[in-house]
Amino acid sequence: NKRYTIAVLPGDGVGNEVIPVAVDALRLAGSLEGLDLRFEELPIGGAALELVGVPLPEETLRKAKQSDAVLLGAVGWHVLIIVYLPKWDNSPKHLKPITALLQLRAGLEVFSNLRPITVFPQLVDSTYLRKDTAEGVDIMIIRELTGGIYNAHPRGFTTNEQGDEVGFCTESYSASEVDHIARVAFDIAKQRRSKLCSVDKATILEGSMLWRKRVTAMGLEYPEVEVSHLLIDTAAMDLVRYPRQFDTILTGVMFGDILSDLAAMIPGSVGLLPSAALGDSGPGIFEPVHGSAPKHYGKDTVNPLAAVLSAAMLFRYGLKEENAAQRIEKAVSDVLDRGFRTRDILTPGTTLVGCKRMGEEILRSLDARVSVS
Ligand code: IPM
Ligand code: MN
Repeated sequence: NKRYTIAVLPGDGVGNEVIPVAVDALRLAGSLEGLDLRFEELPIGGAALELVGVPLPEETLRKAKQSDAVLLGAVGWHVLIIVYLPKWDNSPKHLKPITALLQLRAGLEVFSNLRPITVFPQLVDSTYLRKDTAEGVDIMIIRELTGGIYNAHPRGFTTNEQGDEVGFCTESYSASEVDHIARVAFDIAKQRRSKLCSVDKATILEGSMLWRKRVTAMGLEYPEVEVSHLLIDTAAMDLVRYPRQFDTILTGVMFGDILSDLAAMIPGSVGLLPSAALGDSGPGIFEPVHGSAPKHYGKDTVNPLAAVLSAAMLFRYGLKEENAAQRIEKAVSDVLDRGFRTRDILTPGTTLVGCKRMGEEILRSLDARVSVS
């Protein structure tokens, strides 16, 4: 039996509800494929702050590095709570839960962020767009993850000559950074429908001007891939107007963050979106795109499918266990066929279930697949 160690970092809020569901799915799908999976749970984010006083404990990073893949829940508390319950937002930056995520990405050098946006045929009624607009959408967003404005130099706070307080953060992209992520995007586009749309703001940002130049140059190496370039504002509009035109989207860390949340409204819930963060080698990080959602925490109502589909990505991209990945994806599809829906994707004629129950139904579908195949 092949043996793998998975570092499990549930983190904060609903991470603690969806990750156990994903772990169950990994364990069962893995055992059906004859894989020997070992899970090691580690603290991160607010949970780690309370436990050991830092958001990313050294041990968590070290064991994550030694693992074969990292399954992450969510870190930090989101908007509403930060406004009313400033638990951590006054702490220095290095002590904020969210910093843990950036440190983990940097520590594992996961520079490419894969965020698939797919509309399951069973869920076409959940879209916020017109049904005929959302139908059949299948997009892979490739977001640069460890450079750009998030990792800006210089950045900070200062006071200008007028005595006015200034916050600044300088975006830059180097040619090698662009080439690194563009290579990933071209290779993925080639395996999909061979259409790559690069999104930037090359009309004003220097980093974007270089980005466009390098992507265009690399395109010459991939004659079979149709390359296009869109400005971020147009891309946002087109994603809503006619999303089926997109196959693979390549973009930077900031535009990718915004576009992926925007695109979440095509399937209709951020609770459906998985992601993978990959480097050249070493373990990747697999996590739902959604956050810790403290407003929903503890009610057993959130959608675990984003986490479960992240588990499928973990098998596919992290462990190269394609069969196990497909088992999970088929189980998700099967559960949807059987009509089970969490609150965020509930439509007339379907059955409302909570997070745990959704997890149980996934396991049932996974099990059923054995006798089928
Ligand atoms: C995401 C999140 C993070 C990001 C935050 C929490 C740093 O919004 O993964 O989309 O912007 O990368
Ligand atoms: Mn985001």
